[in-house]
Amino acid sequence: MVLDPRMILRGVKVVTYTLLDREMPLMTHDRYILEQEILPYFAEREEYTKVLFVGCGSYTKHYEKWFHPKEYWTIDINPMKKIYGAKKHIIGSMSDLNLYFQEKELDLIICNGVFGWGLNDRKDVEEAFSGCYKSLREGGVLVVGWDDVPEKKPFPLETCESLMQFQSYFFPPLSTSQYRHLTDESQKHVYNFYIK
Ligand SMILES: C[S@@+](CC[C@H](N)C(=O)[O-])C[C@H]1O[C@@H](n2cnc3c(N)ncnc32)[C@H](O)[C@@H]1O
Repeated sequence: MVLDPRMILRGVKVVTYTLLDREMPLMTHDRYILEQEILPYFAEREEYTKVLFVGCGSYTKHYEKWFHPKEYWTIDINPMKKIYGAKKHIIGSMSDLNLYFQEKELDLIICNGVFGWGLNDRKDVEEAFSGCYKSLREGGVLVVGWDDVPEKKPFPLETCESLMQFQSYFFPPLSTSQYRHLTDESQKHVYNFYIK
């Protein structure tokens, strides 16, 4: 096997930055929208105090700081991702949220890049979003970020029955309940906003 030096360098950087608690943001438009529009809006508002962020990476570890002093949880099915999780981290599947949270316990769930990135099976997806609905209080918000490309879309998200329980949430900073980046064809990331 030939090791790519760039991959080795990237690995070393990820480990070093993680150990030093340094931020490692991704420089893409969808990440910009998440980090500059979506997360700050909810982090600044008092009514969102108990937050769950689904799926972790080296580039999401610093989100916990932004939500301080709120109660910020992370969950990831992959035990290896614990190092990128919050202090309150769950190793488990989003499809089992009812094992970890009581009904109406959460104010906000952000599920970005998970549908189509491991959460693929229709039954698992239905259970995951059904669990979100149960765990959120009345007025709680669910944000789903997903890639509108065939290889990352196990089935049309709009056919997901558990999501139909929610109302669309008009997200003020973006003036929409579904944000797509329209000017660049290479960017197919979409954010859907729902409210219970
Ligand atoms: C592409 S990464 C997205 C990470 C992050 N949410 C973001 O904003 O980029 C997908 C992550 O979702 C996790 N994941 C996949 N299926 C999951 C499930 N059913 N429950 C919880 N986490 C899951 C994977 O282990 C992986 O770490």
